[in-house]
Amino acid sequence: AEIHYYDFVVQATPVKRLCNTHTIITVNGQFPGPTIEVHNGDTLVVNVVNRAIYDVTLHWHGVRQMRTAWADGPEFVTQCPIRPGGSYTYRFTIDGQEGTLWWHAHSSWLRATVYGALIIYPKQGSSYPFPKPKREAPIILGEWWNANPIDVVNEATRTGAAPNISDAYTINGQPGDLYNCSSQDTVIIPVSPGETNLYRVINAGMNNELFVSIAGHAMTVVAADASYTKPFTTPVLMLGPGQTTDILVTMNQPAGRYYIAARAYASAQGVAFDNTTTTAILEYKFAGCSAQPMLPLLPAFNDTFAATAFAAGIRSPTQVKLPDPVNEDLFFTVGLGLLDCKIGRTCGGPNGTRFTASMNNESFVLPSTLSILQAYRSGVPGVFTDDFPRAPPVQFDYTGASVPRELWQPVRGTKGLKLKYGSVVQIVLQGTNIVAGENHPIHLHGYDFYILAEGFGNFNPETDKARFNMMDPPLRNTVAVPVNGWAVIRFKADNPGVWLMHCHLDVHITWGLAMVLIVEDGVGELETLEPPPADLPAC
Ligand code: C2O
Repeated sequence: AEIHYYDFVVQATPVKRLCNTHTIITVNGQFPGPTIEVHNGDTLVVNVVNRAIYDVTLHWHGVRQMRTAWADGPEFVTQCPIRPGGSYTYRFTIDGQEGTLWWHAHSSWLRATVYGALIIYPKQGSSYPFPKPKREAPIILGEWWNANPIDVVNEATRTGAAPNISDAYTINGQPGDLYNCSSQDTVIIPVSPGETNLYRVINAGMNNELFVSIAGHAMTVVAADASYTKPFTTPVLMLGPGQTTDILVTMNQPAGRYYIAARAYASAQGVAFDNTTTTAILEYKFAGCSAQPMLPLLPAFNDTFAATAFAAGIRSPTQVKLPDPVNEDLFFTVGLGLLDCKIGRTCGGPNGTRFTASMNNESFVLPSTLSILQAYRSGVPGVFTDDFPRAPPVQFDYTGASVPRELWQPVRGTKGLKLKYGSVVQIVLQGTNIVAGENHPIHLHGYDFYILAEGFGNFNPETDKARFNMMDPPLRNTVAVPVNGWAVIRFKADNPGVWLMHCHLDVHITWGLAMVLIVEDGVGELETLEPPPADLPAC
């Protein structure tokens, strides 16, 4: 195994998109940021220097961080932010994961522009469980705002309204030639006839799940969230923010130019949506650059059937050994809410309220004086409490047409749930129709989990357990909980630390759709969190 050293300088950088030059925050002046390439088993040492005017932290999305929670990154959860002028070195080892992950800022909305790919090749001396691809390339989906994303979220927080939606979707940082002033910079992916290539698709978008297709070409999924899958061939992918999907594509079409396109999938049920599309071009050798590319057929923005069918196709390669029996049987609602406006203020949400979001009616508030992990390890009181409820305070028809108004107002607080080392945890994630039903890509830090089942309506413990896939459920770090539906996940709490679980639609985490799992140390050194690094930033 190798050790890889990187210097990441967080800085303001002017870039030109959609006809204008904007100053955005980048790493090393690159947008998207640098691609990290390692092998399974390698160690990363990333020295982050903050030369921007904002506080920043970096998160290595999906990296298990075994016993190294200090390097996980979410601000005020595992560390205090790196202040302007400060620095911090993230050190961690890739332990057993292969495929594609990514890294992104985990402070305010900086991840809109501060992100990049993290590619994990097979362990030195071993190879892919599929024929070696001829070429490889990352395909990173993102969003672009003409305004400063930090201003967008601050304005939304001030008014209580929903934030402005982005001005474009992007592939590898470029909107593509369907947008004004963008055709010259459209991303071109060169290919040769007959070859089979590996593309690593990452949804780094802020607030939408996305469909992806390639005109004329089938895609064979071979990995998701850095776990291999049973190969499955599909005309369309669906990725929630945070999710990755590795695909093999064979160049078996007449030499030409073919669009790779992505489009948003149903943000909120029943809400009209600007289904803007972003494109890149797959260009065959000898195609002739004048050839007009073909657009693929993408599902409609509200095509839940296509999204669900895709999710069901992702399976583990062979029969898995599920952690069993379950020690912690948990039920978490995930959904929106509305808060009354403070007296003497006007709010921009529906009927003069402000938007909020919650899990089990608890709307998560980040601490500001110390990270939860530091407070937990050093016993500092007043930063968080560990009484997050194991089930919602009342049962109701979660996905019914008219959820009672008194359930719309969650409680605000900083609550975690303690788990004994090694306990087997099962969580039903139940979407709600409070205010509106919506997709929730739920991400758990520090773990991969098996997705046992997904369904629509209210989870029924009597009948739905029969639908659990105990054979080959997929292993992932982010699950797209369907609109007005549910998903069930299971994992073994074998990584001590404080782990954020949240909706990866950034506006929902801003509104409080988050909580923390606090996994206690086990016995012996190998079951114990490492001591904090000496340069851990102070608050
Ligand atoms: Cu991709 Cu909490 O993050």
